[in-house]
Amino acid sequence: MPSSPGPVRAGSPALPAPRGDLSAALFRHWRAGGARALPPVADLDRTLAAVVDPLTDDDLHLALWAAYELHHHGFAGLADDLEWDGPTLAFRAALERTFEAALRAEIPAGDLDRDPREALVAVAARGGPPLAATVARSATRDQLREIAVHRSAYQLKEADPHTWVIPRLRGPARSALIEIQADEYGGGVPGAAHAELFALAMAELDLCADFGHYVDRLPGVTLATDNLIDLFGLHRRLRGAVVGHLALFEMCSVAPMSRYLAAATRLGGLPATERFYRVHVEVDDHHAQLALDELVGRLAHDEPDLAPDIVFGAEALARVEARFAAHVLHAWSRGRSSLRQPGEPPRPGPRQPGQKRDALDQPGVGPATRMRSRRVGSDRLRAADPTPLRTTVPVPTS
Ligand SMILES: [Fe+2]
Ligand SMILES: [Fe+2]
Repeated sequence: MPSSPGPVRAGSPALPAPRGDLSAALFRHWRAGGARALPPVADLDRTLAAVVDPLTDDDLHLALWAAYELHHHGFAGLADDLEWDGPTLAFRAALERTFEAALRAEIPAGDLDRDPREALVAVAARGGPPLAATVARSATRDQLREIAVHRSAYQLKEADPHTWVIPRLRGPARSALIEIQADEYGGGVPGAAHAELFALAMAELDLCADFGHYVDRLPGVTLATDNLIDLFGLHRRLRGAVVGHLALFEMCSVAPMSRYLAAATRLGGLPATERFYRVHVEVDDHHAQLALDELVGRLAHDEPDLAPDIVFGAEALARVEARFAAHVLHAWSRGRSSLRQPGEPPRPGPRQPGQKRDALDQPGVGPATRMRSRRVGSDRLRAADPTPLRTTVPVPTS
């Protein structure tokens, strides 16, 4: 870190409130311009070893989200040079190791050895907790707003984390990715990027569309869905995973987006919100086929060593999305908001002496999450969703 801080970012979000030892140490370090030492890696690893569920932990995922945001928007009052601060990168790497290890531990090794195209179709067909179907059927305007707040962590920068991988691909796979991303950015038409359409939808829903405005309200289970893409996108060694992630993303878009569109139509008076969902309904059938045939198919052919990571990226996406959907449905089933409340203690909290690391034991995780954790896409969950699943490529994860 240079002794004199570089230019300070203007128009960036405020640094969120810390949620534990990890985020507190990182934010102190940044506020001191990188001059305040971070904990030694051994201490950090001890703290991380006490994390009950690295896939949802509030403190871990807030710290990781903030570390990634240095590459996107930065934070008000912090120097842009912190993006390449060595101690920050070492700290982030420890968080990433813990997150990635927990993801890999969820997926049986043999599952990664399948043909990537067949594996992605199978993952998509498993479905997930029926969040979108529930929204279509019965969500109130406040619940639709709640979904928008959750999704704002990613959707206000939609496509950006996947774009990291463009310079890391070659040939037909790269061309397919560029075609998909060009659509996500609205074909270069000002105001037509999906992130910009989402901002209009948020404003229409009487929400603040400033990036990062709601991060203090987002639980770790939500931040994990966003962190996953940057984890994959920012590491060349994981370029297969980001391809698998994007492909499943596109394959699982049309049906849930149709349901969110139906909810906005049912509630009425939400043309910008309808437009955001409709553009995905209109274009993602094509994206799904393109992603599966040209992006996944060609990459697996040209770089067969990446095939297991393509499957890993999709399996990881299915798991973090299932946890997110289960979290929201669990809160709603109890008449509660699924967002963090001001002053709410972090979840799941540090592991107690003698307590095993077990995602299934965490507080606030309901039966749906436990069921999903044991077998993603069980028939029982699928049966709970009244909307027929597609028989071709795209099938919803939520
Ligand atoms: Fe999009
Ligand atoms: Fe798309």
